Amino acid sequence: MRKVAISNQKGGVGKTTTAINLSSWLHRKGFRVLAVDLDHQANLTTGLGINPAELKMSVWDLLTSQAEFEEVAIDRAGLHVIPSNIKLSSADLVLGGEVGRDYLLKQALQHADYDYIIIDCPPSLGLMTINAFTFVNELVIPVQSEFYALQGLGSLLQAVELTRQRLNPVLEIAGVLCTLFDGRKNLHKEAVEFIRNSFSGHVFETVIRDNIALAEAPSHGQSIFEYAPNSHGAEDYGRFGEEFILLEEGIHVEEKAGEAD
Ligand SMILES: Nc1ncnc2c1ncn2[C@@H]1O[C@H](COP(=O)(O)OP(=O)(O)OP(=O)(O)O)[C@@H](O)[C@H]1O
Ligand SMILES: [Mg+2]
Repeated sequence: MRKVAISNQKGGVGKTTTAINLSSWLHRKGFRVLAVDLDHQANLTTGLGINPAELKMSVWDLLTSQAEFEEVAIDRAGLHVIPSNIKLSSADLVLGGEVGRDYLLKQALQHADYDYIIIDCPPSLGLMTINAFTFVNELVIPVQSEFYALQGLGSLLQAVELTRQRLNPVLEIAGVLCTLFDGRKNLHKEAVEFIRNSFSGHVFETVIRDNIALAEAPSHGQSIFEYAPNSHGAEDYGRFGEEFILLEEGIHVEEKAGEAD
């Protein structure tokens, strides 16, 4: 089982878009997939066609042991989803002082049996993100194809390192994913080059282009493969999926590239 968190504390970099479309692609390939929404904004939940306001149970009830996994998980045509809603916004405040507060997700999902568990993290390094880091084996870090994309990544990497030391020694960075790429802008090409140089060997070959269909699909509650299967967005996330499944658990993009040499 590969457990993957999609994380970057910077907002609007394509975390949720990546979580929705990677989960959907894996599901369409026939894998057993669980997508978990750990963000109180509930964009993954909404983007997969689930109305957060109508939920009886959400990830909050699961984390606080008020509900069983089976009561919270929603079967969306075979893709299983742990939805979120606004209740989760008080998590840091309410759960911050709890014993074992970093292990709540790990405990809640201890019996979950899937090929892939994909977790959409909120844009912060708060309690929910640390819960994700404690539970998963791998991290995918989406960054916008801009020069300032790497600003703030130092604190993310520091959080990863501390989590490794204190909570989860097997945590690895699967790779950095460049998103919102506009090939007409030289600045974007240079930025991707810069990101590749800065994170040598840890950046996915696939670059996700800026594509309007990717922005439209969530309002229809659909993945890009349902909404616009012939779009650039579907092509890019399909290519990313292929690249992603080739990575074995814990193996860096760099090591894989080294093997190919
Ligand atoms: N490749 C893309 N092309 C066009 N629009 C995109 C692309 N990726 C994401 N978007 C749009 O950009 C916005 C931010 O994307 P998304 O919600 O995936 O980012 P996020 O990192 O999850 O944001 P947050 O930090 O708020 O959770 C959304 O409106 C989304 O539809
Ligand atoms: Mg998001």
